[in-house]
Amino acid sequence: MRKSILITGGAGFIGSQVVRLFVNKYPDYTIVNYDKLTYAGNLENLRDVENKPNYHFVKGDILDVELALKTVQKFNIDGIIHLAAESHVDRSIHNPDEFAVTNIIGTIRLLKAAQTAWNDNYDGKMFYHISTDEVYGSISTGYFTETTSLDPRSPYSASKASSDHFVLAFNNTYGLPAMISRCSNNYGPYHFPEKLIPLMINNMVNNKPLPVYGKGENIRDWLYVEDHARAIDAIFHKGKAGEIYNIGGNNEWTNIDVVKLLCRIVDKKLGREEGTSAKLITFVKDRPGHDLRYAIDPGKTISETGWRPETAFEDGIEKTVDWYLNNENWLKNVTSGAYLQYYNTMYANR
Ligand code: NAD
Ligand code: TYD
Repeated sequence: MRKSILITGGAGFIGSQVVRLFVNKYPDYTIVNYDKLTYAGNLENLRDVENKPNYHFVKGDILDVELALKTVQKFNIDGIIHLAAESHVDRSIHNPDEFAVTNIIGTIRLLKAAQTAWNDNYDGKMFYHISTDEVYGSISTGYFTETTSLDPRSPYSASKASSDHFVLAFNNTYGLPAMISRCSNNYGPYHFPEKLIPLMINNMVNNKPLPVYGKGENIRDWLYVEDHARAIDAIFHKGKAGEIYNIGGNNEWTNIDVVKLLCRIVDKKLGREEGTSAKLITFVKDRPGHDLRYAIDPGKTISETGWRPETAFEDGIEKTVDWYLNNENWLKNVTSGAYLQYYNTMYANR
């Protein structure tokens, strides 16, 4: 039974939900959050668990193989859940090298740290890599399954697909026990406001334009972040080395419908006249290479682990809007300084 777990990227959006779930659900486990704290990593996301005796934080880079190795050895780590990554497609279009370094080289270094620390004694060990449905590319009809060929089309998804291949290569070549899950788009609290849903909420609150790329017809399958964290828990405990598990919500929405839904909810919550926020919708130049549709079949994960999504989209979205309206300081802190510069550069030319 694996009880000493290293979670990389635990200060990010999804990682912090995974840390929170494991720290609270498994008081007898040791949970080590290993995070470099980039612009996307924020220890504010973990205030409610930071004083729990089973929680530890190590500020570290996955590229730093020495520190990663020392950390695995020091805490006698037998399970690694690897979420640390550069995660935003728009940033990857402007800076593909950084995505290759963090997501590909960083994953290889972490695999090597695990291999060295475990020293071929792989009994009871597991390296669990968190990936994305974006590695499958864009699909016009039907659903991605675990056997769908990889067809990454953005620098972000290309870097994630490459890291997936390295994880499977370490399993095949060196026998390192490793598995992968690939999830659809997540939403919920602590989501960095450069991504569609929190960016729109933030702009609505501040009466700023709502930049919808192209015609807003692109389709994503949205899953509440706590449902993803529960899937990771189920796969970590029940998944098998060498396997891939798809995770999704069977919940497809066009971007424009998501934005309109958010407008209605925000207007209601802020006591604004209906239609006020929708007036801010601005169709802007499309993202280059914009994938039209992602849709994933989570059947294998459901049948093999018993997991299933629990949060209906309308409920999850309402909870998410409430969270952002009640956490103004968090939003202000993460959107000050460097973020503002980034935002202005990103949107200046649209
Ligand atoms: P995020 O950008 O919110 O968080 C990433 C975290 O990784 C941050 O805490 C950051 O500080 C840390 N990090 C980045 N580079 C690091 C490095 N070199 N060393 C150590 N830590 C580093 O990302 P997220 O949205 O929470 O995504 C987490 C993982 O899940 C990623 O691997 C992503 O590809 C995958 N994923 C995300 C989604 C989604 O909808 N957000 C969907 C499927 C899969
Ligand atoms: P995003 O949250 O960046 O996730 P991903 O690109 O990984 O799916 O974007 C979700 C969808 O929303 C995607 O089709 C791009 C679109 N989008 C906008 O229309 N406007 C925006 O300001 C952003 C950030 C995204």
